[in-house]
Amino acid sequence: MTILGIETSCDETGVALLKDGEVIANNIYSQIVHTKFGGVVPELASREHIKKLLPMVKKILSENQISLEDIDGVAVTYGPGLISCLLIGLNFAKGLSYSLDIPFIGVNHLEAHIYSPFITNKEFKPPFLSLLVSGGHTQLIKVRGLGDYEILGSTLDDACGEAFDKVSKLIGTGYPGGLAIEFWAEEGDPFAFDFPVPDPRGLDFSYSGLKTSVLYTYQKLSQKECVERIKDIAASFQRVAIQSLILKLKRAIDKTGIKTVSVSGGVSANKLLRMQLSELSIDWAVPEPGFTMDNGAMIAFLGYKLLCNGYSSNFNLHANSNLTL
Ligand code: KG4
Ligand code: ZN
Repeated sequence: MTILGIETSCDETGVALLKDGEVIANNIYSQIVHTKFGGVVPELASREHIKKLLPMVKKILSENQISLEDIDGVAVTYGPGLISCLLIGLNFAKGLSYSLDIPFIGVNHLEAHIYSPFITNKEFKPPFLSLLVSGGHTQLIKVRGLGDYEILGSTLDDACGEAFDKVSKLIGTGYPGGLAIEFWAEEGDPFAFDFPVPDPRGLDFSYSGLKTSVLYTYQKLSQKECVERIKDIAASFQRVAIQSLILKLKRAIDKTGIKTVSVSGGVSANKLLRMQLSELSIDWAVPEPGFTMDNGAMIAFLGYKLLCNGYSSNFNLHANSNLTL
């Protein structure tokens, strides 16, 4: 069975092909048009998806010698995300599905992230804890099975990835922020600045206080220091941002007694986070490179799972920018 996966929820246009549960191609176009704005501009993002999606689908099919008639189903993100961006992928998928008379499967982007570590790690089975850390979400979830979720904690304000992006914009290390902060932090002193570790009660997260603390510290520096101390700020911020994730994760493990953990979303690519996960006595999984950031493979993978469970969507499925688990 061959599934075409489509992802257009934010600033990545992702298309992928999955054959009998294995990813055979996963092509991602990360929009560079937003770089000069230091953040995603929704109108520009949707225009980019319109320009890129059809050529990318044609390319992935021809590169893998797969014809339209070989596709058995089309899986697509229908939320959450930027509404103007979701509409591009969703309507494209509906059109393709209608014209080829094949099922289309609307996929929840968050659920796709949760299962993304298992694209290559098929041994991992529920129940497990999921730490979902992206640019839009920071959540701890107890996963009992497909579609059976209990949210244990969420961010009360900014998402972790969003904080990386905003701090990066502030200190001028560029966009996208996560990768930039990680790069500059490599040669910095993680203890140079004593930013407070966010710890709202229970299993919730908070990143706006940390972001403001970095802002105030930065504003007190001279122009010369702002340049000289970029690496130290990046390293100190990163240490604290990751420490908060690990703190909450440990607390969730203690609370639930579940020691099997999946970590996914863009921030799961972070090397410091992965190092600290490896120091915990738990069974943990993260996505392979290419499946951490927004991508079509995770959409195709979840779509395939759903289709195998007898689920497909109706054409009256609407894009939902605020879709939850
Ligand atoms: O999952 P994703 O591609 O998109 C959303 O669904 O939001 O995550 C993007 C987020 C961005 O905020 C980006 O700065 C962050 O993931 N990110 C990272 C790293 N790579 C991407 N954050 C920390 N360390 C990284 N290496
Ligand atoms: Zn995402």
